Amino acid sequence: MRFLAAGCAIILILGLASCDTLSSEKIYRNGVVVCSDKTAADIGLQVLKDGGNAIDAACATAFALAVTFPQAGNIGGGGFALVYLADSQQVYYIDFRETAPAAASARIYLDDQDEIDRDRALNGPQAAGTPGTVAGLSDLHLRFGSAEWSELIHPARSLADTGFIVGQSLSEALLEEEETLRRFEATEKIFFPGGKSIEPGQRLTQPDLALALSFIEMKGRDGFYLGETADAIAEYCAENGGLITTEDLQNYTTAWRQPVKFRFRQLDIYAASLPSSGGIVMGQILKMLNEYELEKYTADAPEYMHLFAEASRRAYADRAEYLGDPDFTPNLTDQLLDDHYIASRRQSIDPTHASSSTEILPGMPGGSHESDQTTHLVVADADGNVVSLTYTVNSWFGCKAVVPEFGFFLNNEMDDFAIQPNVPNAFGLTGSDANRIEPGKRMLSSMTPTIVLKSGKPYMALGSPGGSKIITAVAQTIINYDIFKMNLTESVTSPRFHHQWLPDKLYLEQGGYDVVTIQKLIGMGYEVIERTPYAEVMALVFSDDGLFITPAADPRRGGGCATGY
Ligand code: DON
Repeated sequence: MRFLAAGCAIILILGLASCDTLSSEKIYRNGVVVCSDKTAADIGLQVLKDGGNAIDAACATAFALAVTFPQAGNIGGGGFALVYLADSQQVYYIDFRETAPAAASARIYLDDQDEIDRDRALNGPQAAGTPGTVAGLSDLHLRFGSAEWSELIHPARSLADTGFIVGQSLSEALLEEEETLRRFEATEKIFFPGGKSIEPGQRLTQPDLALALSFIEMKGRDGFYLGETADAIAEYCAENGGLITTEDLQNYTTAWRQPVKFRFRQLDIYAASLPSSGGIVMGQILKMLNEYELEKYTADAPEYMHLFAEASRRAYADRAEYLGDPDFTPNLTDQLLDDHYIASRRQSIDPTHASSSTEILPGMPGGSHESDQTTHLVVADADGNVVSLTYTVNSWFGCKAVVPEFGFFLNNEMDDFAIQPNVPNAFGLTGSDANRIEPGKRMLSSMTPTIVLKSGKPYMALGSPGGSKIITAVAQTIINYDIFKMNLTESVTSPRFHHQWLPDKLYLEQGGYDVVTIQKLIGMGYEVIERTPYAEVMALVFSDDGLFITPAADPRRGGGCATGY
């Protein structure tokens, strides 16, 4: 069963700029933008039309999402981006993940009984790490951008100032989180004016956020990390149990790192490296699967789902034990993606039966480290530059508290640390000492911005929100497109399944799989859990000659937009 009927028509569109619908897949020549919101996508597209490159458009879209998609778009969070530069034919990777403030310590979220106080770890400013987004976008632009910086912020600032019409998905998200959001006075003032929720069709203005954006527009990253905004963050934190100080903000740096690179069939896949686990875990899964003849299955064949789930079980077991910020903990990327190691992990897969996660343990011989809401955007321009960027405040609206007078949400990313070894976080992920809280350290992520090359040329760019499920959602989209030969829209909309070692359960999207498939999986030994649809994959692919680009936005969250010209 499919969420979407197969066989979408392919239409070549020149000069049109509205979101593509699911029933017709469109192709463009000059550039595309795919993200979680139409207004932000249109802003990115306009930057491309005005002569900006993909990097400029990605920055403008990301700033616009901070206004129109405050669930996840942000200036108070962090993320990762990959850039393919046509000139150098290289893939670059920037890490702008949040860091633990200097005052953070391993016991900070434990109560008197040594239990995790989940409310403190998730809600309120003490849950926030030092934000990285503004530094990340600024460093991306400094290195690769071509347009004026202020031109990339200006549309977002205007939107915050004059307002925009709220759509269904923001209105619903606000209602869903109403209780926690309204615990914070400054948040309530903006998003529940007069104590009332914002209905779809109503205009939302954010003058405080416009002020924060105006400082960034004028002063670049210093307009956030120094001066009035930095003082306001530090003051709010000091008065409300938060950890971030002006020194933390002043000391924040991004990191240009080597992306994870691995081969899958004819593809060279580049994805986020540590401190995101995304590239390593996806690399392990796809490399374990590389030896199986997947082509003989379909995406909903229990035999394929079983192999994928078993590869995932092994990869997530390693994630829990070995992965953390590489500046603090030994970096085992090469060992974990080593062909012999992968072969040994594959060998323990029984092709007909599920293993048990109590038996499948992290697998490195002697290896030791002595570790919902995000949004993804992809952009490609006429010169062949590509950006794949995922950023987040972690949960919807992060820690739910906006910085008073500046109107932006702080993240609640500290929960991505292993607050206690082997105790699951909000995404059910466990971790070890490798991902324990330490001052200045980056918490382990699952974000998986990805760029795929074929014969040295851009082939596909994609990524997703979805916490721990990001990695399997991205990997399945690549397989759907490259192995099962779905078109991009089908690849993105096709039902998903997920296994992450612990809990030892196989999650299936509700309504995506028929009874026979489910019974077969249960017969193989899986505990099958049907759940609501998850993740929101944003993707684009290039035609073989590289001249045409097809974008696709996942419809699962309702607001996604793929557009181009
Ligand atoms: O970095 C991570 O892995 C998480 N903070 C991502 C959170 C996320 O994707 C929530 N969205 N559904």
